[in-house]
Amino acid sequence: ASRPFSKHHYEPQRPSFGIAFDIDGVILRGHTPIGGSLQALRRLYGDSGALKIPFLFLTNGGGVPESNRARELSRLLGVKILPSQVVQGHSPFKELKNRFENELIVAVGKGEPAAVMSEYGFKNVLSIDEYASYFDNIDPLSQYKNWTIQNQINKNNTLKEMATRSNVSSDRVQAVFVVSDSIDWSRDIQVLCDILRTGGLPGRGIGHQPPLYFASDDLEYQAAFTSERLGMGAFRIAVEAIFNRIHPNALEYTSFGKPNPFVFKNAEAILKQLWLSSSYGVDAVNNEENSQPFKTLYMIGDNPSVDINGARQAGHPWFSILTRTGVFKGKENHADFPADLVVDTVEDAVNYILKKEL
Ligand code: G3P
Ligand code: MG
Repeated sequence: ASRPFSKHHYEPQRPSFGIAFDIDGVILRGHTPIGGSLQALRRLYGDSGALKIPFLFLTNGGGVPESNRARELSRLLGVKILPSQVVQGHSPFKELKNRFENELIVAVGKGEPAAVMSEYGFKNVLSIDEYASYFDNIDPLSQYKNWTIQNQINKNNTLKEMATRSNVSSDRVQAVFVVSDSIDWSRDIQVLCDILRTGGLPGRGIGHQPPLYFASDDLEYQAAFTSERLGMGAFRIAVEAIFNRIHPNALEYTSFGKPNPFVFKNAEAILKQLWLSSSYGVDAVNNEENSQPFKTLYMIGDNPSVDINGARQAGHPWFSILTRTGVFKGKENHADFPADLVVDTVEDAVNYILKKEL
């Protein structure tokens, strides 16, 4: 029997489980839905379109604000996804707002890394594209890069803003946030080494390394090509290996995203909020506020060392399900990070969960 989860179908028996979906290699490859993801997600909504089962997306990807990503996912997947249901690799960066709110910070990566940080409340953030444009000749290869034209356009667009920021090159960068995958590794590694080795003042002498944060540490991810692609973890290895050769002290950094246990704690808190706001009336909410609503939280992922490792480390109430539609393609369970269950697709995973729970 189904247990509706909408205000209009109040029933005392609520779902005592929630689901976290990985995106790349489980729900999508590139922009294409895979593994029966459309059908699987539709089963989590009632006939009226109201959310029946609390679920969210827990991805190490990113580069756009959560509200934009929610809109894009809604379009690609044909269901209404709320911004609160989208947790990206960089989402935990907002916890650092108080520390760097008014400090000059640099944001790296594809998409709109500076817009992501501004939306989190950081007030003095520059993308690495814009930051680099304040330093003539900082990238000796820029003349060979055909996207310099685009950078030039951006630069013209922001001339007014640049006038009000005339002191950028003498303003100390207080932290660097790698929000999403670097597009131009050679320029970004160069500029990051400049910032990090000088204490935030490229072109100057050696200084104390400012804090460096990565949104995730995925060595590889599935994407649309046949074999896996190098991810942010590969970029981190490149930055670290080079920095450690040119600087007396080893690179210090923090990586967020899965498998960091913080991410799973945060996902649990968000799922609880979804569960509370989705409807049992004020009385039920008051009574339940401090209780633990979930007997089981399911993590459905394709990457054993990231998704499954993370869910295993998070422990109770997490239950890990590994699909074969992405990084993992094995026949048996993964040897080092065995999942609680291995299935072919996300649709199989949701079928299993709903059969067991409803
Ligand atoms: O860049 C995205 C990739 O690192 C992983 O995405 O959704 O599989 O966590 P996802
Ligand atoms: Mg994945």
